[in-house]
Order: sequence, then structure tokens, then C-alpha cells
Amino acid sequence: MIRTDQVDAYLASVRPGSDPLLADMEAYAAEHHVPIADAETAALVAMLARAVGARAVLEVGLAIGYTALRIARGLAEGGRVTSLESDPRMIAAAREFLGRDPDGARVDVIEGDAAVTMAALAGLFDLIYIDADKAGYPRYVELALDRLAPAGLVLIDNLLMDGTAAGGRGDGHWSQASVDAARRLSAELAADAGLTFVLLPVGDGVGVVQRK
Ligand SMILES: C[S@@+](CC[C@H](N)C(=O)[O-])C[C@H]1O[C@@H](n2cnc3c(N)ncnc32)[C@H](O)[C@@H]1O
Repeated sequence: MIRTDQVDAYLASVRPGSDPLLADMEAYAAEHHVPIADAETAALVAMLARAVGARAVLEVGLAIGYTALRIARGLAEGGRVTSLESDPRMIAAAREFLGRDPDGARVDVIEGDAAVTMAALAGLFDLIYIDADKAGYPRYVELALDRLAPAGLVLIDNLLMDGTAAGGRGDGHWSQASVDAARRLSAELAADAGLTFVLLPVGDGVGVVQRK
């Protein structure tokens, strides 16, 4: 939690309600402890994809397809989401959910370790959303910057790690190694003269990166 309870309750009160499919996915995620993005984060990623007129979006970490579906729904005709996922059980659940919406067919799932599958991707992406294993983030960011279209955006989730990244100390959920790695990555991105980096306190902390 990087916000106060009062702010969180207020945000919930001004958040548009989820349609039945998204609500089912949210309920499934809560029941099965699947860490899908916060509703605000997913909405923001989808909105930015639409704002940059994305034709090709890459997601690192599909889980059950929640954010992928929200992105796909907002893309212009012909736009597609490629999403990387290593867990076959997640992919099976995602396929079931995505099959319930016509825009689900616009999500291409690639199974395997993202460090391998991402390196093998061809072409450029207008928006890349990184939301998988935190240990892999430095490599995913490096690969993302290689595959980013001019003026495209890289979005990096969980950079605030429930606020622990700000304090610099891990807790029962976020290890000290993860907190240290998140702080190092944000510092490196902020110091890179070739990049614009904004760390937004949305959801669990979303880094937005763009080449200058
Ligand atoms: C936080 S969840 C993704 C949530 C999803 N982006 C959403 O908001 O709907 C992270 C996912 O990354 C997957 N993952 C973890 N390590 C991975 C790896 N090395 N390669 C590909 N996927 C990985 C996990 O199985 C998990 O489903």
C-alpha cells in the first residue's frame, strides 16, 4: 500500500466499475492469489497504449490476461498485444478468459521464460509493459529499449513495492534484494541522459520510460 486508506477508499469511489468479465477475472485473481495489476495501473497502461496510437504492444507477464485484455480492447483496428508468460497454468486460465471477449483474439501469447522469448522477438513495439519476475527487470528493460519504437513507452510495474522501495528496507513480501534492485533500476533510469523517466505513485508504482 503506497497510499493512505482514505485515499484508497476515495480512488475506489471514483473508479468506473468493472464489466462482468473483468469482475470475474478480478475475483479469480483474488481467490487464487494471482497478482494482477491494480485496476488503476491496468487502466493507465491501456490508456497510454491508446494515446500513443499503439499498433504493437508487448506485455512481459500475462498471468490470467487481465491487463492484456484491457489493452486489447482500446487498440485501434489491427492493433495487437503480444504477451509473454512462463506458467502454463496461467496461460490456460488466460485463454479461457480471453476466449470470452472478441478482443481476446487480439492477444498473442508466447509461452516460455521471458528472458529467452523476449530476446527472440522481431519488430518494434509502441508500448512495452513489464510486469513479471522482479529479478528479470534489468534484462527486460534492456531488451525493451532495444525493441521500442521511436517515441514509444516502456512501463515498469511495482517499482515502489508497497512503499518499501522508498524506505529502502524489504518486508515479509518484498525481499531486501528486490527492494535494492528496484532502487538501483530507478536510479539508473533517472540518471540515463538518453531517457526520460517518470516514476508514478499509481498502483504499486509505475515507471514510465521514453527515449529522448
Ligand atoms: C504480476 S503477474 C502479471 C500480471 C499481468 N501483467 C496483469 O496485470 O494482468 C506476473 C506474471 O509473470 C509471470 N512470470 C514470472 N516469471 C516469468 C518469466 N521469467 N518469464 C515469463 N513470465 C514470467 C508469472 O507467472 C506471472 O503470471
